[in-house]
Amino acid sequence: MKAIIRIGDGGPEVLRVSEVPAPIPTATQLLVDVHATALNRADLIQRRGGYPPPSGESEILGLEIAGTVAAMGDAVESVSEGDRVFGLVGGGGYASQAIIDYRMAMPIPDGWSFEEAAAVPEVFFTANENIFTLGELSAGETILIHAGGSGVGTAGIQIAHHAGANVFVTAGTSEKIYKCKTLGAIEGINYKTTNFVAEIEHLTDGKGVDVVLDFIGAPYLKRNLSILKTKGRLLQVGLIGGATAEIDLGTLMRHRLKIIGSVMRPQSIDEKIAITQRFIDRWLPELKRGVLQPIIDTVFPFAEVQQAHMYMEANRNFGKIILKVS
Ligand SMILES: NC(=O)c1ccc[n+]([C@@H]2O[C@H](COP(=O)([O-])OP(=O)(O)OC[C@H]3O[C@@H](n4cnc5c(N)ncnc54)[C@H](OP(=O)(O)O)[C@@H]3O)[C@@H](O)[C@H]2O)c1
Repeated sequence: MKAIIRIGDGGPEVLRVSEVPAPIPTATQLLVDVHATALNRADLIQRRGGYPPPSGESEILGLEIAGTVAAMGDAVESVSEGDRVFGLVGGGGYASQAIIDYRMAMPIPDGWSFEEAAAVPEVFFTANENIFTLGELSAGETILIHAGGSGVGTAGIQIAHHAGANVFVTAGTSEKIYKCKTLGAIEGINYKTTNFVAEIEHLTDGKGVDVVLDFIGAPYLKRNLSILKTKGRLLQVGLIGGATAEIDLGTLMRHRLKIIGSVMRPQSIDEKIAITQRFIDRWLPELKRGVLQPIIDTVFPFAEVQQAHMYMEANRNFGKIILKVS
């Protein structure tokens, strides 16, 4: 099969299209002819030699796929060859064939392209697990979503808004902020020109927010805690700005705050099946109805994977970057 391989660790130039052996599905896995996959920030880290795949997963980059079922293991139920499916994978998405556990493969809704389907799993699962399963955001509460124009941010804005929460975002350009508002954000703060702590205080009449969804990490930790209301929740999902910081634990105690961290990739297959099911139950119907949308910035041909990585590294995307495999 065709796959993007890495010739060492480094910049986008280490990525190459090559011929490699196709994976062989186990009893509960599907072999999928991949038509589209998508980039995630984690791919950039893995390309540089960090964020290794969990044991047993493919070394090939790519955390989500959309395609058609080509073959399957003996224990697979309710799936046929030729079915259009999409879902989260532990690795191996940047390839013309990939394997996925059949319990994590979702039927692609009628009328959806493979590109649209590939734009959904990683960011909607991450947003749902953090904002609702862990963060317990409820209607009427207020959330600040950093990097609102990121893939996860664009999914998070939509589902938090749809659940009746008040959504504020930060982003690095006025164009991204404008687009975040079209997805349901009440207000956006350009973190490059404006102090987001002061602005959140202003926007909330000094009350602060119930939940912060953060990808920046160390440089934002103290500031994030300072804008949380009593019983507020900080969801640490990324570390773009660094991992080590110092805080006053007294702040946590006085305001009964929670800091919750999570990473989806290393979780067990049973946990990932449960994550998939929670998304299917709550958000897939809303995506099918068109109330929520996969947000696609650009579709790159498979052979232009280096350009796609450069585009993400330059923070140019609003929503997802897709690789069209075939
Ligand atoms: N824990 C998990 O399971 C999990 C799962 C999926 C994703 N994630 C994490 O979620 C984050 C978003 O992922 P994604 O794939 O959606 O990313 P993405 O589409 O590449 O978006 C990331 C955005 O972050 C902003 N940014 C970059 N550097 C920044 C900085 N120093 N300060 C503030 N903003 C900065 C940029 O937008 P601006 O133009 O606004 O600066 C950039 O476009 C990543 O950190 C990723 O690792 C975690």
